[in-house]
Amino acid sequence: MLVLGIESSCDETGVAVVRAEAGRVAPRLLAHALHSQIDMHQAYGGVVPELASRDHIRRVLPLTRQVLAEAGCRLDDIDTIAYTRGPGLAGALLVGAGLACALGMALDRPVVGVHHLEGHLLSPFLSADPPEFPFVALLVSGGHTQLMRVDDVGCYTLLGETIDDAAGEAFDKSAKLLGLGYPGGPALARLAEHGHPEAFALPRPLLHSGNLDFSFAGLKTAVWTQVRKLGPSMSDPDRANLAASTQAAIVDVLVHKSLAALQQTGLRRLVVAGGVGANRRLRERLNAQAQRRGWRVHYPELHLCTDNGAMIALAAAMRLQREPERARRDYAFDVAPRWDLASA
Ligand code: KG4
Ligand code: ZN
Repeated sequence: MLVLGIESSCDETGVAVVRAEAGRVAPRLLAHALHSQIDMHQAYGGVVPELASRDHIRRVLPLTRQVLAEAGCRLDDIDTIAYTRGPGLAGALLVGAGLACALGMALDRPVVGVHHLEGHLLSPFLSADPPEFPFVALLVSGGHTQLMRVDDVGCYTLLGETIDDAAGEAFDKSAKLLGLGYPGGPALARLAEHGHPEAFALPRPLLHSGNLDFSFAGLKTAVWTQVRKLGPSMSDPDRANLAASTQAAIVDVLVHKSLAALQQTGLRRLVVAGGVGANRRLRERLNAQAQRRGWRVHYPELHLCTDNGAMIALAAAMRLQREPERARRDYAFDVAPRWDLASA
């Protein structure tokens, strides 16, 4: 079965083709292509939803043609068309849903709406070292920070989540305060390489709360206070030290809560997914802990950590293996800008 996947929930247009084969847990990625809107939104310091939607419209067809050519197949070979149904920006989601439904209707093929976070959390199944069920998933993206217990495809139990900002948001907002561009996560991580993580004492919110929830809003305020104290003539070493200290605070909390989730569930496998999962320091810390305790940590391939179409095609294919009835033929442009993964 060939599945075409379309991702358009935020600021990346992603299209991919996967082949699902009987007897294989995960499908094989045949081709994927991505267009990032980062350059376009950079001038505004963040994503402008209307511009995002228009750019998805411009990009999605050329990317689809490119992916089909790279996969060596024709549109008519596609068996199912998957698209990101939510969560995300409504107008942006409608572009992917619109194309998927139009193709489905024209080709007489079913469509499947996929939960964006399910795509992220299953994305390590496309890596050379895929996990086995059950596992704990740490989902850390620009909009979400959640710990989930994953017993199988579609069996997701929320263990804890952020009560305010997401981890990616904490990276992005702190980066903005430090005068770095958008998206700030990678830029802050790069600057942090030149600083000392203990130079500034920043809070680790909810570190000892006893539950698996997160809070990052206070950290952003603490960074703002430091930036004000240092003033407009902040030296380069101070800036790097503050970046390193901010990254250390975020990573500390993520590592501490992930270990607590493993202990609490008795599971021995952790999957880290979402854009912040690309963070080198987070990976180093988690790998060191896992090695010490005999746990396994799985990540998506680095280029599939941030948003992409491959994870959407993959999630659809894995879901359909278990629940073929999820494939729809009503072709309604059905999107869910707000959508709980547990109810997906
Ligand atoms: O999953 P994603 O691509 O989009 C959402 O679904 O939100 O995640 C984007 C987030 C942004 O906040 C970005 O700053 C962050 O992931 N990010 C990073 C790194 N790479 C991306 N944060 C820290 N370190 C990185 N290396
Ligand atoms: Zn994402």
